[in-house]
Amino acid sequence: MRFIITDSYEAMSRSAADIIEAQINEDSPCTLGLATGSTPIGTYQFLVEDCRQGKVSFANVETYNLDEYCGLSPESPDSYHYFMNANLFDFVDIDKANTHVPEGDGSDAEASCEAYEQAIEDAGWMDLQLLGLGNNGHIGFNEPAADFPVSTHIVRLTESTIDANSRLFESADDVPREAITMGIGTIMKARKILVVANGVGKAAIVKEAFLGPVTPEVPASVLQLHPDVTVVLDREAASQL
Ligand code: F6R
Repeated sequence: MRFIITDSYEAMSRSAADIIEAQINEDSPCTLGLATGSTPIGTYQFLVEDCRQGKVSFANVETYNLDEYCGLSPESPDSYHYFMNANLFDFVDIDKANTHVPEGDGSDAEASCEAYEQAIEDAGWMDLQLLGLGNNGHIGFNEPAADFPVSTHIVRLTESTIDANSRLFESADDVPREAITMGIGTIMKARKILVVANGVGKAAIVKEAFLGPVTPEVPASVLQLHPDVTVVLDREAASQL
């Protein structure tokens, strides 16, 4: 596990964008696993700007997002599909047919999970998987649990996650209670993993996940077992390391 500790959110975002761009430029075509949330927004802004300047092209990039809320359509402004369009896909030269987000509003959620996992397997798994880190150690929506879920599945969100994500909704009552997420097994099959975390609020979980014991009670701790993980932090998130 390699740590890159940067001075600010902007520097963390720049560093993460550089790693993603190096992957795209060195390894075309390229399959990227992507995350939503507050942390990667700055990274996506750098990718958009660099694509505009011709430093990187998404023409040969295929993407799979980690997760999506159940019950929300891609057009819902609260959906992760909408987030990805608004923060990245609408502003880079990617073929939208090559962007994939779990189907949150399908009539058969189990079937949607199976189809999503199969599509990722058919794509040869991820070359590079970008991850944010939940306050409780979740990655994707893999919440603390008794074991590590293997493949894409439906998950019931914990109160802590509902609480953390309610800032993006009108109220906590509006946060969907279920989501579809890649499994820990899906994530671990990526050839490279890039974790981003910033702010003092993430300092304790960064320490617990990456220096503590590997346990499904802290899902991100499993990343200690992956052979190629880069963790990019700002000083605050790294302050307990
Ligand atoms: C989002 C996702 C989540 C977030 C995590 C951190 O697709 O998979 O695991 O990465 O909740 O969210 P932020 O970045 O908002 O702190």
